[in-house]
Amino acid sequence: MSEHSANPSAAAATGRPRAVKAVIPAAGLATRFLPATKAVPKELLPVVDRPVLQYIVEEAAQAGISDVLLITGRGKTSMVDHFDRRPDLEARLEEKGDEKTLAAVRRPSELAEIYTCRQPEQLGLGHAVGYAESHVGDQPFAVLLGDEFVNLSEPLLPAMLELQARTGGVVLAFFEVDPADTKRYGIASVEPAESELTDIGEVVKVTGMVEKPKPEDAPSNLAVLGRYVLPGKIFDAIRRTQPGSGGEIQLTDAMELLRTEGTPVHAIVYRGTRYDTGMPLGYLQTVVQIAAEREDLGAEFRKWLAEFVNSDASGGPNT
Ligand code: G1P
Repeated sequence: MSEHSANPSAAAATGRPRAVKAVIPAAGLATRFLPATKAVPKELLPVVDRPVLQYIVEEAAQAGISDVLLITGRGKTSMVDHFDRRPDLEARLEEKGDEKTLAAVRRPSELAEIYTCRQPEQLGLGHAVGYAESHVGDQPFAVLLGDEFVNLSEPLLPAMLELQARTGGVVLAFFEVDPADTKRYGIASVEPAESELTDIGEVVKVTGMVEKPKPEDAPSNLAVLGRYVLPGKIFDAIRRTQPGSGGEIQLTDAMELLRTEGTPVHAIVYRGTRYDTGMPLGYLQTVVQIAAEREDLGAEFRKWLAEFVNSDASGGPNT
């Protein structure tokens, strides 16, 4: 069940449908987080009391997307269980009259219809997205990477979905990175967008994309954030994409192929907060930020954190 219904105005303005399905590639081996991810999928690592993946599905639901395809792999099927009902647990909580926990336990199963398919070999993000073809067909769809999410009070996806319904092309989101970090991301060159598109936010037109360039080869410091809205023709482009960075079939390369063939590619420059849980440092920062914002425990946690930062134990100012 979504909290906001899809905005039909974009479709009315252009005659094009707004994407209604999301794909979450989540088959990766999570080598940047070993050994924690040896038996636990990185998508299930908790941020306070919910797994990362729940924040991502919440983000889709908030944008009016209630059909979510999880691309899974070996050892990762427990992700699906999180979105299932647990009648035994629910009955126990009902008996105890614990309505709050009961609602929290039911919440994941109410967010969206979850579908799964399996990527048998991990040959890259483009390769993973290619497995969504039979589920999404030739319609536009969103891709949400399984290790990052944005602050729900600064939504990104609704504007991306509306922009894609207007252009019919590829829609990305960018954030600015330190120039030394370009080799961790897809990086783009841009020019100002057509004026009729800029009422949606800070929109730019993409003039080139490259996956994980060295700083000296990077066309800018605008990095591709893990949210995409793609037209159905991306599947054909993925089939025609050769292995690229890291020997993998890259989604960035497939999108660049479409762009060189004339598909418009636009992006929203996102100024909100992006949480990156794919590596230990980003994960820790995410947990601290989310915990500090929580209504139920934020005040106490912030007080403790301030004391800790100033204490000897943290190597803080008093040492
Ligand atoms: C992927 C994409 C990259 C994008 C990044 C965002 O890289 O290939 O273009 O900038 O996600 O997090 P990965 O993190 O899978 O190496």
